[in-house]
Amino acid sequence: MPLRAQKWSFSGPFGNWDKAQLQRGLKVYREVCSVCHGLKFVAFRNLADLGFSEGQIKTISVGIQDPWTGRTTKGEMFERDGRFPA
Ligand code: HEC
Repeated sequence: MPLRAQKWSFSGPFGNWDKAQLQRGLKVYREVCSVCHGLKFVAFRNLADLGFSEGQIKTISVGIQDPWTGRTTKGEMFERDGRFPA
């Protein structure tokens, strides 16, 4: 069967995303994919683009350790709780 052009909601300059689907994608990621895949290029503030409120992002960030930003005054690194706004 030949491939046909699809009509995507996000096509074109006036396209948009279904926020509920994006949020479900994050849920699937957190429950399944995160076992093996990291999200080091995604900041907590980026979750606002998925339609999450600041309060929801804070809830998501609880318990997620950030290994890169914690530094003692001597420059030693330590894991820090994820923060939003970072
Ligand atoms: C058990 C570990 C594991 C889980 C769970 C997992 N992945 Fe993967 N994933 C891998 C590995 C390993 C590769 C690299 C495979 C390769 O390159 O041959 C990969 C590759 C990928 C790629 C291709 C990346 C590329 O550069 O081509 C995508 C996309 C992907 N995974 C998405 C997902 C999504 C979405 C989920 C959750 C629904 C998920 N993965 C869950 C281990 C996993």
